[in-house]
Amino acid sequence: MIPEEKVREVAERLSIVEVVSDYVPLRRAGGNFLGLCPFHAEKTPSFNVNPAREIFHCFGCGAGGNAFSFIMKIEGVSFPEAVKLLARKAGIEIEERQLSTAEKKTQDEYVQFLLINDLTSSYYRSVLLNGQEGEPARRYLAGRSVEADISEAYHLGFAPDRRDGLVKYLKNNGADLDTAVKLGIVRKSDSGWYDLFRNRLIFPIRDARGKVIAFAGRVLDASLPKYINSPESPLYHKSSVLFGLNMALPSIRTGGSVIIVEGYFDHLALYRAGIENVVATCGTALTSTHAGLIKRHAERVYTLFDSDNAGKKATIRSMELFLEQRVPAYVISLPVGDDPDSFLCTHPVEEFAALRDKARPAFEYFVHSILAETHPDSVDSKVRIIDDIVPRFRKIADTVERDLYEKEICRLLGITVHSFRKRMGGGRLSHQKTPAEQNKTIQPGDAIQDTLLALLLNYPEARAEIIRDGLDKIFTDDYLELAGLVLDSLAGSDDSQALCQLAETLESPEQKALFSRIMVSDSYLAGIEWRSVLDQCTRSHEKKQLASIKDIAARLAVLDPGSAEYTQLLKLADTLRTRKSKL
Ligand code: UTP
Ligand code: MN
Repeated sequence: MIPEEKVREVAERLSIVEVVSDYVPLRRAGGNFLGLCPFHAEKTPSFNVNPAREIFHCFGCGAGGNAFSFIMKIEGVSFPEAVKLLARKAGIEIEERQLSTAEKKTQDEYVQFLLINDLTSSYYRSVLLNGQEGEPARRYLAGRSVEADISEAYHLGFAPDRRDGLVKYLKNNGADLDTAVKLGIVRKSDSGWYDLFRNRLIFPIRDARGKVIAFAGRVLDASLPKYINSPESPLYHKSSVLFGLNMALPSIRTGGSVIIVEGYFDHLALYRAGIENVVATCGTALTSTHAGLIKRHAERVYTLFDSDNAGKKATIRSMELFLEQRVPAYVISLPVGDDPDSFLCTHPVEEFAALRDKARPAFEYFVHSILAETHPDSVDSKVRIIDDIVPRFRKIADTVERDLYEKEICRLLGITVHSFRKRMGGGRLSHQKTPAEQNKTIQPGDAIQDTLLALLLNYPEARAEIIRDGLDKIFTDDYLELAGLVLDSLAGSDDSQALCQLAETLESPEQKALFSRIMVSDSYLAGIEWRSVLDQCTRSHEKKQLASIKDIAARLAVLDPGSAEYTQLLKLADTLRTRKSKL
């Protein structure tokens, strides 16, 4: 645990401009600094850093926060790690709170785990590079055209054909073998300790920061199993690890997209060809944890799985995960029988790039693959196809996209939109909302509400007046909620620190984005006559509300007069009417 005062000290010692400049070239633009956003691909800068408020916001992708959240996002680390990283930069020493004995034990063990993995990986590496024992592996790699630089980039190694080579090495280096057992790389039997990997080419598996957390070993011939992987351990949870993420992060950041493959050698083949934004699952299907991890770093994903049946299934399953996470997904299809490695061994990388550029949206791929299996030539087959499509179709979050696909599906099946919707369960199509959406989303760019909120932040006198008249007179929906939170966090004081902290504690991503957007862009309000702006905005806001009376009337006409929504709307219409008569 890092003490609160230390966090504050670090924040005070460093300016956010200094912190961000280590990653992004910035130039001054008015009160802000401007640069190309490191979190999404863009050609014109929309990434703003506000030194007065110590926050950043990108108008392109909505990312925002303070220096700590910037480091968390760009380095992919937790809050305490971000604090430590910046403390080092600021030359501040952090003594952590005394750990309890139990905590200390876990931490010591964690350090031991990493140490053992480092020892293990350098052992395998040196066996591969030096001496007679590594010869078969060196030959194997040469046969697959893996040159020294690539072997080094992956830190490839070789587990010799010995019962206890690693055991002895670890022992000689003072490592605790019982701890190594927990990592699964050595085992204990009645006749002593022995190695998990024998006579296998070794791929160290690293986390996003490059720490070795596990190993995979491939045979050098056609024997089975082709790969064995270290088992799950306190360091390694294969459902949340993406092989090669540490190598891919820089190019994912610049290009915004990531390619997902299924094999270690597929990863290697692409990397060798100069395509670096690639990650691989580790001998397991893609999980929602993987998809979430990808969403944190990339705006767009390409899946590149084998063209066999298993690969098709994996593609469709991953499409569902990305639909759920609302990450646009595309499918790269290789010629039947090829995998990325074999394709790149026989084709120039430009041809691969062309296939990537022709990648089809995953949902389109899905619909076509269903149609390729079942021909829609009878009522029965059409019904079956629709029933296959509907559960996935419901997951498409974007309404425009959904409309387009609906039309496309109906065209392909030769049915009317009406009958498709009927089969969907009748009436209106509404996709299942993700938890984030269930918190009402903020309409981006409600300029009036933006300005009102900015007034609330900047002018204590305006704030007092707004409080007196009631927040709900001028704010609606999420703005109302956010305005309430702002007031709570200011609670009498006018401390800009309080606002920066609020930015960190907001839970909904939409609110966070809205808040940081306003915090970096409210300088146009400096030195204005707050009262006239407040009056103007209040009037525009009310006019806008009035326009909605008509909509309300239309909604009331179709609602059940006994329902709660009916009563609520009726009340709203009344309030609006009273206000209109006062205008
Ligand atoms: P592949 O058989 O396609 O392996 O399995 P590959 O990585 O492309 O290797 P080469 O080119 O044949 O040498 C894809 C992935 O499935 C997992 C591994 O993660 C592998 O990279 N796998 C495969 C296993 O975990 N165990 C196995 O026995 C086979
Ligand atoms: Mn393969």
